[in-house]
Amino acid sequence: MSKTKIAPSLLAADFGNLQRDIEMVNNSNADWHHIDIMDGVFVPNISYGMPVVKTIAQHATKPLDVHLMIVDPDRYIKTFAELGATYLTVHYEACTHLHRTIQAIKAEGMKAGVALNPHTNVNLLKNVIKDLDLVLIMSVNPGFGGQSFIENTYEKVHNVKELIKESDSSALIEVDGGVNAKNAKALIKAGADILVAGSFIFKTEDPTKTIEELKKSTDRWSIFEL
Ligand code: DX5
Ligand code: ZN
Repeated sequence: MSKTKIAPSLLAADFGNLQRDIEMVNNSNADWHHIDIMDGVFVPNISYGMPVVKTIAQHATKPLDVHLMIVDPDRYIKTFAELGATYLTVHYEACTHLHRTIQAIKAEGMKAGVALNPHTNVNLLKNVIKDLDLVLIMSVNPGFGGQSFIENTYEKVHNVKELIKESDSSALIEVDGGVNAKNAKALIKAGADILVAGSFIFKTEDPTKTIEELKKSTDRWSIFEL
């Protein structure tokens, strides 16, 4: 089993010390920077926009994993490519022509991801799964950090893993929302490849140490215990 990636969600960073927190992620054992874009329409909250993403991109040294929680994401695909996104993930529920959106993301040289809200059945991805680089399973209702993990996520991760195998897809599975050291092991066992964590990392006294401990345990679970 391959090693699990850790993607700290900058939504939980201290925006007064954004450069410091980005550099903390750069110098930690984390793998990606997770960037949450919320428009106040698709989700009931607004996070941050292009000037902030530009600042993040200027300081970040790891891949930028951009999670768009916005309506009509096609309007911004090119902009995020220019800003340096490595992965661009759109919501299934926000795309009328999902196949076209996925192709447009790839045409801009980015890896394409699709996120599913907690109520959305993973089988709805059946006809696009081969085109995807990433499936993001939301383990909370999107819009806010610090919410409680929804337990049926394990089953969804397992189901999407089966779909990926059956379809001979190379998509990675990312889980986002309420992730912590307690649910990480079962998520990896169910098939998760990337764990996003906001509050669990940034709201601790020593975020670098929290990342290191999470990374070490996930490495151990991936290799020896599952
Ligand atoms: C929620 C966002 C998440 C959020 C995770 O809508 O997509 O990335 O920042 O935060 P925690 O880990 O605090 O649930
Ligand atoms: Zn996210």
